[in-house]
Amino acid sequence: MVELEVSSLKKYFPVQKSFIERLLTRKKQFIRAVDGISFKIFNGQVFSLVGESGCGKTTTGRLVVRLEKPDEGKIVFEDKDITFAKEKELRPLRRKMQIIFQDPYASLNPRMRIGDTIAEPLIVHGIADKKEAKEEALKMLENVGLTPAHMFYKLLPHQLSGGQRQRVAIARAMILKPKFIVADEPVSMIDVSLRTSILKLIMKFKTLYNLSILFITHDLAVARLISDTIAVMYLGKIVEVASTEELIDNPMHPYTKALLSSVPSLFRRKREKVILKGEIANPINPPSGCRLHPRCPFAKSICSQEEPKLISYGNNHYVACHFPLLGKG
Ligand SMILES: Nc1ncnc2c1ncn2[C@@H]1O[C@H](COP(=O)(O)OP(=O)(O)OP(=O)(O)O)[C@@H](O)[C@H]1O
Ligand SMILES: [Mg+2]
Repeated sequence: MVELEVSSLKKYFPVQKSFIERLLTRKKQFIRAVDGISFKIFNGQVFSLVGESGCGKTTTGRLVVRLEKPDEGKIVFEDKDITFAKEKELRPLRRKMQIIFQDPYASLNPRMRIGDTIAEPLIVHGIADKKEAKEEALKMLENVGLTPAHMFYKLLPHQLSGGQRQRVAIARAMILKPKFIVADEPVSMIDVSLRTSILKLIMKFKTLYNLSILFITHDLAVARLISDTIAVMYLGKIVEVASTEELIDNPMHPYTKALLSSVPSLFRRKREKVILKGEIANPINPPSGCRLHPRCPFAKSICSQEEPKLISYGNNHYVACHFPLLGKG
């Protein structure tokens, strides 16, 4: 069963201009953060979005749980079209859709005891009274490994380490027993030695609640550890999607290959490395045709003229490239 389906989703942010710039040009400019992406997340599965900084991952995550309003496209959650749903309609769904943010330092209220932070959603959603919520929060503290729970309940965020704070953020998201979560780089700001334990904790809840997860990361090695499917994003577009195994074993898009070339643990010795030229382009004025073409070592003239569509190459493997690197491992 499909938990979440996104079609041709777009979000453009207007560029803020200075007074002088406004005098010089009246033309409005937009950052094309998410520029027509489609994907499906099946029940109980982990779908990862991978790509460089600024490619639109967080914006996508915020759009699908409707913390951000889309400009175009469609978002269907559990068979309900929520693309332009009003806050009142979204309210009952908010319980089922949660988000875990990248920065555990910024996402918790610094003045609230962590136990109350975890209990709060139960009260806000009218699910429990104060006493019941406290009991549930204590159980949840145990569940996320912050024990003795009574002691942790009373602490403030600044008394915790980054890893512990992220456990609190996960507890707060999980107390509502959601069906779907967006995990936005949940381990990127955590000490490397603690990452695996945080990922394991997320996976424990996945099994417990049969969660579907949109997992956001810039790190293919992390995505590989926990995903069923991986989608690679570049400048607001999805350029390749496949099952994790298929994408790592048989990458076809030069951009995916370049990402893989930079991860030693995923790099196969017989593979040819793909090195891109220059830096990620400007999302205000993205390159014509294929957005990767100025950086791509395989680009030909068609690449600057025509935008490649996401095409199936069998085995549920989709690639948007005029010259996919077929059968080259
Ligand atoms: N609220 C906003 N207003 C204006 N521009 C925004 C806003 N949010 C994001 N952007 C821009 O949209 C683009 C995509 O940003 P987004 O945060 O989605 O990228 P990301 O892939 O999550 O990057 P990172 O890996 O650095 O977290 C960027 O160019 C960013 O500057
Ligand atoms: Mg981000």
